[in-house]
Amino acid sequence: MIQKEINIRYREYDDRNELAPEDLALVEAAAAATENSYSPYSGFRVGAAVRLSNGETVTGSNQENIAYPSGLCAERTAMFYACSRYPDAAIEAIAITASQNGEPCRLPASPCGACRQVMAEYQTRAGRDMKIILAGKEKTMVFDRVDDMLPFIFDSLK
Ligand code: THU
Repeated sequence: MIQKEINIRYREYDDRNELAPEDLALVEAAAAATENSYSPYSGFRVGAAVRLSNGETVTGSNQENIAYPSGLCAERTAMFYACSRYPDAAIEAIAITASQNGEPCRLPASPCGACRQVMAEYQTRAGRDMKIILAGKEKTMVFDRVDDMLPFIFDSLK
């Protein structure tokens, strides 16, 4: 038996204005997308913005449904739209924000496992790292690659 450890790396910012300008712009696009959330059941409005290698930015928001599992998270809404609209472009970065009761959330919203899995596959497909930016009002976390959010991803043990 060998005991092993892995390192997860990310950066944390108190002030999102310290982000690179293109990343800050992506966070702002994600925040604007929360306005288009359809979330009458949870009241939790999530926005995601995807920056593509062709220079386009695509946004999405969570869309809920009375038959609960039929809804979709903001991240997958944005990624699926981006990759169906621009199938040859790589996703360089995705920013995620959330608001509740009309106020931006203090802490970042962390993507669910299904969204991480979809991020991982698009990263593999593109052959380049996808940056993930989780932006709350008081804390922003930046992961340079999906591996740092989803270690031991399905199909990675080759
Ligand atoms: N949700 C997202 O859109 N993204 C996340 O990262 C976490 C959760 C949505 C799903 C549901 O519409 C609402 O937030 C409450 O869970």
